Amino acid sequence: MQISIEKLKDSQLKSLYPNTTDLGFGKIFTDYMFTMYYRRGEGWVEPKISPYAPLQIDPAAVVLHYSQEIFEGLKAYHAADGRILLFRPEQNAKRMMVSAQRICMEPVPEEVFLEAITTLVNLEKRWIPRDCGTSLYIRPTLIGCGDALGIHPADEYLFFVILSPVGAYFKGGFRPLSLYVEDTYVRTVNGGVGAAKTGGNYAASLMASEKAKSKGFTQVLWLDAREQKYLEEVGAMNIFLVFDNKLVTPNLNGSILPGITRSSVITLAKSLGYEVEERPISITETLEGIASGHLTEIFGTGTAAVISPVGSLFYQGRNYQINNNQVGRITQALYQKLVDLQYGKIKDSNGWVRNIGKI
Ligand SMILES: Cc1ncc(COP(=O)(O)O)c(C=O)c1O
Repeated sequence: MQISIEKLKDSQLKSLYPNTTDLGFGKIFTDYMFTMYYRRGEGWVEPKISPYAPLQIDPAAVVLHYSQEIFEGLKAYHAADGRILLFRPEQNAKRMMVSAQRICMEPVPEEVFLEAITTLVNLEKRWIPRDCGTSLYIRPTLIGCGDALGIHPADEYLFFVILSPVGAYFKGGFRPLSLYVEDTYVRTVNGGVGAAKTGGNYAASLMASEKAKSKGFTQVLWLDAREQKYLEEVGAMNIFLVFDNKLVTPNLNGSILPGITRSSVITLAKSLGYEVEERPISITETLEGIASGHLTEIFGTGTAAVISPVGSLFYQGRNYQINNNQVGRITQALYQKLVDLQYGKIKDSNGWVRNIGKI
């Protein structure tokens, strides 16, 4: 792929964040973005890196009316020895292809996805923060364009990638979260698009998460749509429960996102000697486990949220505390192992970490 690069003069570059402690999540964007079009009959054309700027799309574009949109989220890490590392980026590329197929979009080929990211991140390497817990978040996005109304898949697509230096996803960093177990609204249904990373799922989640936040909770823990009985996932994380030293996580039932951190944590936990079960977990079993003391830890997993301990669940008017609202031993061990791998501090025996350049 021949990527054309439209460079800015040094004097036109943005100034970097003043310090990494206030980075937060997704508030600052770098100088450049990647764009590429797909047109029926032509294929993927015009790969380009140009200054970060508003997009120009037709007001009749399919994405604006029928939500034909998918995205991904991954991070570039600054290793202490100056290497630029990505964590399992091919998994994001593959998941984006699966999401594309689910909502009838033209999939971005894996090698295009990886080359676009590698080239853009290398060009923008001055933006990769180096403090522990910080990284350069990468947001590849695919939208249906075109200029005709009517419900149909678009015949033109725009793939773009933007970058944002980030710190902790949740205010307060690595601290136990309080989750609101939602029993009125649902996020997705069986047979729906829950397993695809498409914007509509997130739009559907907004009302419940705003309600939860207004009551002082960090995020919503979703239950299944059919019976509102089984745990699904959290706003931007998959969920794990620890029962008597055994890790249990909801099975990939089609309505939850197959998280890459989820799959990594399953492998890491097994390598640390823990048993892991993927199966339906009811809210009743969860609350009984907390009451009996068999359920000792709950944590969420996600690229943005890394591994986030859960300190309490609020369900139908009652608050249930887990592990005295403290970070659990297994949560802490898995967090450390994952972060050490991502920042290149320990040996990567799974071949997950990809070195894409030098600072
Ligand atoms: C709804 C949802 N579930 C789970 C996850 C975790 O997925 P991953 O570990 O691939 O980041 C995300 C991440 O963005 C998400 O949005």
